[in-house]
Amino acid sequence: PAARYAPAIVVGSGYGSAVAALRLGQAGVRTVVLEMGRLWDTPGPDGKVFPSTSAPDQRSMWFRTRTEAPLATFLWLDVVNRDISPYPGVLDRVNYGDMSVYVGRGVGGGSLVNGGMAPTPRRSYFSEVLPQVDADEMYGTYYPRARAMLGVNSIDPDWFESTEWYRFARISRKHAQNTGLKTTFVPNVYDFGYMRREAAGTATRSALAGEVIYGNNHGKKSVDKTYLAAALGTGNVTIETMQRVVAVRQDPAGGYVLTVRTSDVTGKVTQVRELGCDRLFLGAGSLGTTEILLRARETGALPALSDRVGRNWGTNGNIMTARANHLWDTVGANQATMPALGIDDWDNAANPVFAEIAPLPMGIEHWISMYLAITKNPERGHFTYDAATDSARLQWTRDQNAPSVAAAKNLFDRVNLRNFTMYRYDLFGENKAFADTFTYHPLGGCVLGEATDGYGRVKGYRGLYVTDGSLVPGSLGVNPFVTITALAERNMERILAEDPR
Ligand code: FDA
Repeated sequence: PAARYAPAIVVGSGYGSAVAALRLGQAGVRTVVLEMGRLWDTPGPDGKVFPSTSAPDQRSMWFRTRTEAPLATFLWLDVVNRDISPYPGVLDRVNYGDMSVYVGRGVGGGSLVNGGMAPTPRRSYFSEVLPQVDADEMYGTYYPRARAMLGVNSIDPDWFESTEWYRFARISRKHAQNTGLKTTFVPNVYDFGYMRREAAGTATRSALAGEVIYGNNHGKKSVDKTYLAAALGTGNVTIETMQRVVAVRQDPAGGYVLTVRTSDVTGKVTQVRELGCDRLFLGAGSLGTTEILLRARETGALPALSDRVGRNWGTNGNIMTARANHLWDTVGANQATMPALGIDDWDNAANPVFAEIAPLPMGIEHWISMYLAITKNPERGHFTYDAATDSARLQWTRDQNAPSVAAAKNLFDRVNLRNFTMYRYDLFGENKAFADTFTYHPLGGCVLGEATDGYGRVKGYRGLYVTDGSLVPGSLGVNPFVTITALAERNMERILAEDPR
């Protein structure tokens, strides 16, 4: 048995972990957060913490020699990606054969790199996805709590109508309306008041300087600025960075023992430690948490884990697509990087789609309308353990994304038909109109009520919890972080009230 390092250890520092850390700290439980990425608080040689999206350097991606941006090409030319030196950069792309998954790395997890969109799902769809969760409680208590803590705010509609920075969204809205589709404002955790000051020239630009996916230097309320700051403020929580949890076993004396690798910025492992704790909260994200538990089951470290660990994984139906507009329908050289509007056709029972109107800030007029469509894809992937590489492999084939492509195509074929426009084929590689080989919204792998009980307690093991996006069975119909946060709030409240210390 290893020495007890802390009463509670939280693995990862994204949304789920941040909620766990704060609520444990407030309950007086001494807690250590272990994060494999770095803390993003120190400016580089250019005076900025995060690199710019147009000229990414080593800070942009997790140990790469070349960036792997979602929009790889323009006019079929590889003009977007850049050679970089390997470094613990903020965005990772985990490539599994037919599916690649973008995730954030660092204190704050995905909140550092994402687009900040903070919608709450349709209540009816939430109940379809997670029928065992009391929706009254979620919509009455935990969603409002999560939104308040995360700093969710809405764009001023008058400013939206008048600013050049959202012209791209107004053009897409016009084309949606011509098609008989309805659009809706989408709240965000980027401070829209700050953005207006950027536009007025009284604040340093971030969303209006093309910043997103490799981090925002200003304006965005990532969880290191909200939940994690509050967690540290309790005096009971500490965060250790560049710490990768690779194994978990039970301590015969009670609790759990983690094997943790410390790395330096070159990626060299500088230390391997065994850390003991009474209670362990896994918040390493859908990929990270699932891999830790799958490895523990398959290597015999935690043999009683459910055979549902590694199952029921989905992409949230993510598909990107782009349309070419007529020359008179300009989208503007100036585009804010935070989406503020979505085409909401989720109530169309035959073809439910929620399509966020995405910016493509290139500093020039390009007449492109971009979308991230969220579709209802019933296909699910699962993970297998590969002993040779000691890692989890996602089993997902390209044809499993056919329902998502069909749904996005159904909607945007109608938009193109009504507006006499066409798709762009040059943006996603392979001469195709639909990006169907990556997702920003990995969900599932340790699903609530399957691999865990109804509150994220891992089946078969006391004092072991899952607190992140792996609890959600593959689909939510909208961008997921508000739901991941609200679910973690609900589960932590119950766990802290009921479970022995
Ligand atoms: P999350 O992935 O946030 O955090 C997990 C953390 O654990 C990471 O910091 C990771 O480094 C760490 N970790 C993993 N394995 C570890 C190990 N073995 N040891 C130690 N640490 C480990 N969502 C949304 O609602 N609105 C949006 O606009 C967007 N936009 C968007 C854009 C982009 C580019 C991306 C990549 C993602 C989005 N998302 C999004 C998705 C959203 O960011 C995502 O759903 C959440 O971050 C998931 O939260 P979790 O708490 O599950 O894990």
